[in-house]
Amino acid sequence: MSGIIIAIDGYSSTGKSTFAKAISAKLGMVYLDSGALYRAVTLYSLEKGLIDKDNNIDLEGLQKALESDIVISYEQNDETGLFDICLNGVNVEKRIRMLDVSSSVSPIATVPAVRNFVDGQLHLYGSEGCVMDGRDIGTAVFPNADLKLFMTADAEIRAQRRLDEMKAKGEEADFEDVLKNVLERDYIDSHREMNPLRRADDAIDLDNSHMTIEEQMVWLSGILKERFGIEMQ
Ligand code: DC
Repeated sequence: MSGIIIAIDGYSSTGKSTFAKAISAKLGMVYLDSGALYRAVTLYSLEKGLIDKDNNIDLEGLQKALESDIVISYEQNDETGLFDICLNGVNVEKRIRMLDVSSSVSPIATVPAVRNFVDGQLHLYGSEGCVMDGRDIGTAVFPNADLKLFMTADAEIRAQRRLDEMKAKGEEADFEDVLKNVLERDYIDSHREMNPLRRADDAIDLDNSHMTIEEQMVWLSGILKERFGIEMQ
């Protein structure tokens, strides 16, 4: 699968990253989580007061920071074998999944300078072949990706998944709050001006509301066989 790009797009909490990681492990492909980059920029903005609690953004300050102060790098995680994201040298892989970052990331991701910054990073790390998940990978970042998947799942099921993840990490949260956050992000992600979330015309749909990860991998193996003649064991 070297040199091949698999683009996975879809709504938040549809299990894109779980699926992408499973594909990466099975096929030995590099996995890149584009949302982690938007989250890292959001964390920076929260820490530096570039976004307030009503999600008003200091656009000038953010633009300057993107030009000169935000440095992204990766560090291999000994336990998972995956690459953790680092913001200015600090591993923030866990921190960027917390609710404060989740609540502000969609507005930050509407800012064109942020999208250009993230796209540059994704091209830098992903152009040689990868499995990448996000909202605009098959439509804007890699429109010529070899395989494009578009994932959906019922909003309540997505909120429950997110809640379970948070609880597993010891974070307190209320189902209604998480559902609200999921729906708000769906709206902002699909209505922003620059590269909104939408299904690429040549994407293959996957509604995994009632599918396990194993069932999704079986589904994928059929597609890989048909498209690339690859037998996935
Ligand atoms: O996949 P995620 O939940 O970690 O993504 C976080 C946010 O980043 C999401 O609400 C929208 C934004 N995002 C984006 O706009 N484009 C991408 N390719 C990936 C994420």
